[in-house]
Formats: sequence, C-alpha cells, structure tokens
Amino acid sequence: MTEKKFIPKPYSNSIENGSFTWSSPSNIALVKYWGKKEHQIPENPSISFTLNNCKTTTTLSFSKNKNNNNFSFEVFLDGEKKDDFKPKIETFFKRIEAYLPFLKDYHFKIETSNTFPHSSGIASSASGMSALALCLMSVEKQLTTNTAVPSAEEESQNESFSIQKASFLARLGSGSACRSLEGDLVVWGKHKDIQGSSDLFGLKYPYQVHQNFKNYQDTILLVDKGEKQVSSTVGHNLMHGHPFAQERFKQANKNLSDMVSILKDGDLDKFIALVESEALTLHAMMMTSMPYFILMKPNTLEIINKIWDFRKETDSKVCFTLDAGANVHVLYPENEASEVLHFIQNELVAFCQNGQYINDKIGFGAKLL
Ligand code: DP6
Repeated sequence: MTEKKFIPKPYSNSIENGSFTWSSPSNIALVKYWGKKEHQIPENPSISFTLNNCKTTTTLSFSKNKNNNNFSFEVFLDGEKKDDFKPKIETFFKRIEAYLPFLKDYHFKIETSNTFPHSSGIASSASGMSALALCLMSVEKQLTTNTAVPSAEEESQNESFSIQKASFLARLGSGSACRSLEGDLVVWGKHKDIQGSSDLFGLKYPYQVHQNFKNYQDTILLVDKGEKQVSSTVGHNLMHGHPFAQERFKQANKNLSDMVSILKDGDLDKFIALVESEALTLHAMMMTSMPYFILMKPNTLEIINKIWDFRKETDSKVCFTLDAGANVHVLYPENEASEVLHFIQNELVAFCQNGQYINDKIGFGAKLL
C-alpha cells in the first residue's frame, strides 16, 4: 500500500461553509516510537494504550476563501488566540495538502481545548493533531458525499477508510497522533507478526487481549509541568547516527512480538518487565545521543524507586512508563485500583508538582460531537 491511496478523486460537491467538532484522546506508548525517517515514517513499530480522560476537543469552522493562494487559518486555545501554534499547523497543512486539495479553498477557524491542563507536560500534539485531522476528514466527506444512499457495507467501508486516512494525516502532524483515533490498543509501524500494520497509519490492535488488560488504569503523576528542554522532534532526529540506534530498533520489533503473546496470555509480570524496560530504554537513548540530554527529574526517580519498593512489599502488579518528559504514568490492573490509588496518595503525590496528578484509564477513541 502506498500514500497514493489517500489522494482523493476530484470532489463532486461544493460547500460554502460549515463546522465540525471532534474530541480525540491522548495515548501512552507501551513500546515506544523514537527515531523516524523522512515523511514521518517511524524507524520501528510501536503500540499504545488509548486514554479515556485526557482529550482534546477541536471545532473547525470553515468558510470559502476568496484569495486562495495561501493557507488561511486562525487558532484559539480555550478561547484565546494562539499565533504561536500557527507554524506547526502551517507545516501540517503543507504536508497534507496533496491529500486534502481543498485546504486553500477555505478560511479555517480552529478552536481547541484540552481536558488536561495546558503546560502540564502532557503532550497535546497527539490528541490535537488527531482531532484536527478528523475535523478535516469530516469536511472532505461533505465534499464527496453522493446523493445515493450507501448500503450498510459501503457505509462501514467508508467509515473505516475515513478513520484510516485521518490517522494517515494525523501522523503527518505528529507521529504518535496516528495512534489517537481508535481504542483501546493501537499499533503503528510495519511489524511482521501484526497483519495489516503499516508505517503510514495506526491500526486498531487486531488480536486477542486478555481480560487482565480490560479497563487498565493509568494515573499520570505531574512531576514537572515546565516546557521540555528538548522537543520530541529534535530527540527523534538524534537517533540518526546514534551508536545504539540499530540495536534499539531491533529490540523494539522483538518487544512488540513479545507483547502480542503477553496481551494474549495476560502475563502481568512479563508486561511489567517489558513496559518498564521500554520506558528506561527511551530515556537511555536520550542520555546517549550527541548532544545528550536528560528529561527525567530527581522526583521521577524517587517515584520509580517507590513503585519498585511497593511491588516488592505487596506483590502488586503496578508499573510505570514514561513519555518524553519527567511525568510518570503509573499503570495497574483495574482490580488493584483502590490499593494503588491509596499508595499513590500516601507515597507518590508528594513528588508531584503542586501535588497534581490525573486519573485515567484505557479508552475507546475519538468521537464526533
Ligand atoms: C516518546 O509523536 O511527539 O512519546 O512525530 O516528532 O511529533 P513527532 O514526535 P511525537 O513523539 C512521541 C515520542 C514518545 C513515544 C511514543 O509516543 O511512541
């Protein structure tokens, strides 16, 4: 399959204006994406839990643009104009124009808000780019809708193509965004054991998942809400020529193969070992790139050690993962929710900035509002 599949046929409808609202979740990777080739193609496949409560809601309003030589849009976060968001969106529009040829025909107003605090260190690029891509797909759908009523089968095919294309577009905004459309587990990147997996878009995990992972909990401990010193994009680029890169990409492929068995068998001890190793490997890549950098903070390590102590003392199946920052995602099965929350409140909240944390769990994907 190639990108060509996502270039539309000439549009059959014309519309003057309209508006769509989508809400899209954030996601947390279990096997991490770190390193990419040109055109947002990942160096290795990844898999993530889709979250339930951490979401971005975006309303895209559009009206015909008279002067259509340039992209024309404005962006608002929580009602406030955000010109500093524009360069990222301009780059996104440039990358996706070939697949959405109507982009210069309209002026867009993009109004967005997050359920999690902005500058909480939780990246809004995954949920934000995914919500925007879905809004744009809703516009395209209106431009192509036939008057003939589609059969149920055609409708479902159209629906799944539309989600796939939205994921393809979201990827061009931010790689991990392509895993933020569907629930509850999503794979991105070609992997030999996962049929239908692709470097171009996220795929809803197609195999059996053990009951142990149903409603899996994720409490996000906000350790450091400051701006990251090194962006993910810069970090990904430092994997070019990185001394351990090739071994890391091999390891991620193997970890994903192992994850398929773990998800099927429900082996929580193996899950813990794999997920924690992935998190520490991600940060090890940062510490061993040139230039090197550290995104963990002293409190990140305090929390990790507390989790390890708690596990030793109680036999709990709680574990942690990290994204490209200092915050800690505490992952645990639903049947341990009350014990682990107790532990978090008693022992971990002290290491969070202003005692802040967010309770979340595995979710089911984006919604048209
Ligand atoms: C550590 O998707 O933010 O969270 O493609 O440059 O926008 P860009 O990077 P981004 O990288 C996410 C990296 C990660 C791991 C992951 O989510 O798999």
